[in-house]
Amino acid sequence: MSQVFHDIEKKILETLQKVPNQTPEQLSKNTELSIDQIRRGIEWLRLKGFAIVTESEKITFSLGPNGLDSLKNGLPERKLINMLKDEPKTFEQIRSALSGAGFNVAIANAKKNGWIKIEKGNSDSLVSIKEKPIETPEEKLLSFIGEKTVSQEEITNSLAMKILLSRPNYIIQTSEKLKNISLADAALSLDTSISSSGAIDVEADVSSIFAARTHPLQDTIDEIREIFVNLGFSEIFGSMTQSSFWNFDALFTPQDHPARELQDTFYLEDTELKNPATSSQIKNISLSHSKNWKYDWKLSESQKMVLRTHTTCVTIKYLAEQKPENARIFSLGRVFRNEKVSYKHLVEFNQIEGIVIGNNTTLRDLMGIQKEFYKKLGLTKIKFWPTFFPYTEPSLQTMVYNEKLGKWIELFGMGIFRPEVTKPLGIDKPVLAWGGGIERIAMLKYELDDVREFYNNNISWLRSV
Ligand code: PHE
Repeated sequence: MSQVFHDIEKKILETLQKVPNQTPEQLSKNTELSIDQIRRGIEWLRLKGFAIVTESEKITFSLGPNGLDSLKNGLPERKLINMLKDEPKTFEQIRSALSGAGFNVAIANAKKNGWIKIEKGNSDSLVSIKEKPIETPEEKLLSFIGEKTVSQEEITNSLAMKILLSRPNYIIQTSEKLKNISLADAALSLDTSISSSGAIDVEADVSSIFAARTHPLQDTIDEIREIFVNLGFSEIFGSMTQSSFWNFDALFTPQDHPARELQDTFYLEDTELKNPATSSQIKNISLSHSKNWKYDWKLSESQKMVLRTHTTCVTIKYLAEQKPENARIFSLGRVFRNEKVSYKHLVEFNQIEGIVIGNNTTLRDLMGIQKEFYKKLGLTKIKFWPTFFPYTEPSLQTMVYNEKLGKWIELFGMGIFRPEVTKPLGIDKPVLAWGGGIERIAMLKYELDDVREFYNNNISWLRSV
């Protein structure tokens, strides 16, 4: 019996008779057919029993943020050894040199490797090198991967890989499904010379269509706005440029506070606002500072213009102007911090911020609103932690558990505005306030461990979420 083939099928068959194993992409190249035509042709041939489609998985690895850091500066345990090269050091000295969690990791691993000796002194433990350590398999693997993406087959030490994979954010593992097309026996010596237009298979694979859509971060912003509106809050708006008066002074942030320095805040060059507030507001705020912080408050400092470092300036200005007795207000928008960009910090990001003012409002209400908000976002594992802001007392911070990263993430800051903030502006009722970064929430939602992904314009990621 002779078969009738579509031109597309013919071309695919002929190419596969020459090179028996090809991916759809290779077929497309070798036949000069589009990838959609290839997909369709393969599907026809598969249904007729002439083509065999197998799938394989390609696993690749690249370094995550901690891996890249260790590539440059060494693993925490290596940093520790370098520090001990010349003389033993106390826990205290090591802890202050290796910031944060680095200390525990470094000590634990160096001990496990048998590199160090720890002697208990009467005030602090003393750590010294026991054995000069050679490069470990994990370190070799880190430098082997470097800034490349390597496939699983290239990894020769799978134990070292297992260890690195167990350390958070060292390795990014991705897997990709590959299709492989080969000919069934019946097709190997088939005469393809007869052609026809063929029947149409309405169930064949076709390429996906990507319609225009909003950016995932904008989706998160819209969702958050919607939640607050549903909780009975109204939105207020403010300028992205603000005088230091509303961004800092009105929020009881002393004029020598480190947050106000150039390396934390963007100032608008040679721009000053002559009258940042009414004269009585200026007088009362100035008094509140000089009386409570005991220093010489300067008007000129408060006249300097900044890119707002938080949306709290919008809130406080609104309160000072409207003096509401009863209100549920939120504001949302872009803020700016002169910080080093990293996987968790951006120079520009978005904040959501809200207040409740009314009779008998307490800290418990504030925590209740937070819980409600997080619940609507699907975040249920949360805890509150005491913290500090110059303008609230008490001050709390919410932490949310990120299942994927396996750790607690700081989300919103909150508290009750101090009387030193509200009294000078003529606000008598207690004001519950909170605010925090939207990108952080979006990271949880989209399970990202690098905030920069939102601004990378990676089309395949944008289409996939
Ligand atoms: N402004 C704080 C921040 O940027 C958040 C905050 C808002 C804290 C209101 C307390 C009250 O992190």
